[in-house]
Amino acid sequence: MKTFNLLMIGLGLMTVLSCANCNDKQESGENAVIENIMARRSIRKYKSEPVDRETMNKILECGINAPNGQNKQSWEVRVVDNPALLAEMKEAMAAAHPDRDPEMVKGCFRDAPTMVFIARDLSYDFSAYDCGLLSQNIMLSAWSLGVGSVCLGSPVRFLSGNDVCKPYIDRLGFSEGYEFCLCIGLGYADETPSAKPRDFGKVRFVD
Ligand SMILES: Cc1cc2nc3c(=O)[nH]c(=O)nc-3n(C[C@H](O)[C@H](O)[C@H](O)COP(=O)(O)O)c2cc1C
Repeated sequence: MKTFNLLMIGLGLMTVLSCANCNDKQESGENAVIENIMARRSIRKYKSEPVDRETMNKILECGINAPNGQNKQSWEVRVVDNPALLAEMKEAMAAAHPDRDPEMVKGCFRDAPTMVFIARDLSYDFSAYDCGLLSQNIMLSAWSLGVGSVCLGSPVRFLSGNDVCKPYIDRLGFSEGYEFCLCIGLGYADETPSAKPRDFGKVRFVD
């Protein structure tokens, strides 16, 4: 009985302390979601180890919980964390674009050790937005878990529409009627870039 009473007092104390903590946070204006949004940066230098798959699964689960038109989930997502396959894809992109600086082309993955390839459902006119929102959820949840990321459009240009890279697009195995449209590179950051400026002048209230 004595042990039970002590336990109840302890639990009560913990509740009071944790609530006090919540109030402190509210009063000081801290908000974890806003802080995470404002602190995220595109990362273009990574440590070599890929993001572990348990963490990636959590991040991808956040991705597919993004708002999306009519809940059609008009995306398909493929993840590559095999360094040999990523290296082959970079070589193929460089070979497919002999007119471009090969190092620049190979650098389009920004050396992220985990690459997410996203395709959109061509039969749905809002699928590009769905894919964008999915991507944002991936990047923000990644950041909250200490994983850096960068949204990448250029690999779509280098990988699509040429015979050299086609085997790699085929290997991603997107369904018929889906078009590869966006990449996200992920990994542990090896740089701390500062915030890029934003123009709030593009935003206004209209009365
Ligand atoms: C649709 C899209 C395509 C992008 N493509 C590339 C890209 O090919 N290479 C790259 O380094 N960054 C790319 N970015 C990242 C942007 O350059 C970056 O988000 C922007 O400069 C703002 O910086 P921040 O993300 O650090 O706030 C892309 C971002 C978006 C949304």
